[in-house]
Amino acid sequence: MPASATAVPAHVPPERVIHFDFRNDAELRRDPWGYIARMNDRPDIFFSPDLGGYWVVTRSELIAEVFSRHDLFTATSLAIPKIENPMKLIPNSFDPPQHTAYRKIFTQNLFSPRALRTLERDSRAHTRALLTGFQAKRCEFVADFAAKLPVEIFLLMMGCDLAHRDDCIIWVRDIFRGRTLEETTRGFAGADRFIREWLAEQLADVAANSGSMFQAMVNARIDGRTLTFDEMHSITMMLFAGGLDTVTSQMTHIMKFMAENPHHRQMLIDDPKFIPIALEELLRRFGISNIGRMAAKDFEYHGIQFKAGDPVLASTPISGLDARAFPDPLSVDFGRGGHSRIKHGGFGAGPHLCPGAFLARTQLRVMLEELLPAMPGLRPAPGAAIETLPGATIMLAALPLEWG
Ligand code: HEM
Repeated sequence: MPASATAVPAHVPPERVIHFDFRNDAELRRDPWGYIARMNDRPDIFFSPDLGGYWVVTRSELIAEVFSRHDLFTATSLAIPKIENPMKLIPNSFDPPQHTAYRKIFTQNLFSPRALRTLERDSRAHTRALLTGFQAKRCEFVADFAAKLPVEIFLLMMGCDLAHRDDCIIWVRDIFRGRTLEETTRGFAGADRFIREWLAEQLADVAANSGSMFQAMVNARIDGRTLTFDEMHSITMMLFAGGLDTVTSQMTHIMKFMAENPHHRQMLIDDPKFIPIALEELLRRFGISNIGRMAAKDFEYHGIQFKAGDPVLASTPISGLDARAFPDPLSVDFGRGGHSRIKHGGFGAGPHLCPGAFLARTQLRVMLEELLPAMPGLRPAPGAAIETLPGATIMLAALPLEWG
């Protein structure tokens, strides 16, 4: 029994108990997608005794239900293993109806077409600038590009000096990749201090800020009132935690695939208009988010007894590799949806469906449009051992690339 395993609760049928530690299993480092695809051989719902004990749902359709049915699966406890008194992030840690009021701030203010009007231009300009900074015909893609671009776009939205970029990158890394509690706490503390100071500065001179993020929060109303300092802080922390490591992780898998598959790469270079359709297949194939929910009460679901407080994993990588929803799930087939974009669960489902999806898709599309033609003969650097880091998001530790 792995060291992290706990006793199995009495309501869990023994035949449903199967080990799966989505944070530490060695196979996730070596062959993440092959290992996740093997979830197809497991029951639709099973119980892992690892990480304090939690349910795992393996069918795309049921994963969408776990994301959506807040009456059964509450978002008030998102972490696996469970954390005592977790930081409440607006809107993610709330269920409807409280969630609904907060959610509007994201869809109507923060990510309105007006707030995102310079996104395409900014993404392209910053992508090109990072590209010119690469050494001759080689780069370490994670550090040289994927970690930088999302943070730069985020700082532009904050109306903040890009001089903060490298500190932000370290805090994001510590929050998501911290090997000890001390490192994770250090990341949260750094981001927390930075955001508090920024907010205090902005509130001292509301008209002076040129970034869309602060203006959106100042103009937002909840039941007719303005947001409090603590609400603005929570929203900004949410964007920091939800919008940076995710995009970085997604970029690493997509560029590794592009470097290893010249035929697919050439299709996108020859017909860049096809990139939005291809991107959806790549988002399905390389899902990255492992998100928790908690049983809201005692109930029976698909023949399984859940007890209030049971943690449940809703995993977008598992959803994307469900062979019943996507036949031959490991193959990347840009024609899978005919000439339309395929539907997948990479951005979640239901009331919490990722409101930053447009932001993420824009950065990913521009990355493919700009980088692929500029890197002819792209390939992984010979001899590079490419390690995967599992966890709440799955990403590559480093991706040395060469071209020319
Ligand atoms: C490829 C990149 C991304 C992926 C794969 C992704 C994935 C997800 C997923 C699966 C959820 C659902 C969480 C849940 O149900 O508990 C979510 C929610 C969220 N995401 Fe993203 N995300 C990405 C990029 C972004 C960006 C760029 C932002 C903003 C800067 C963002 C902001 C959020 C927020 C605020 C939520 C919470 C929404 C709510 O609770 O209503 N995400 N994301």
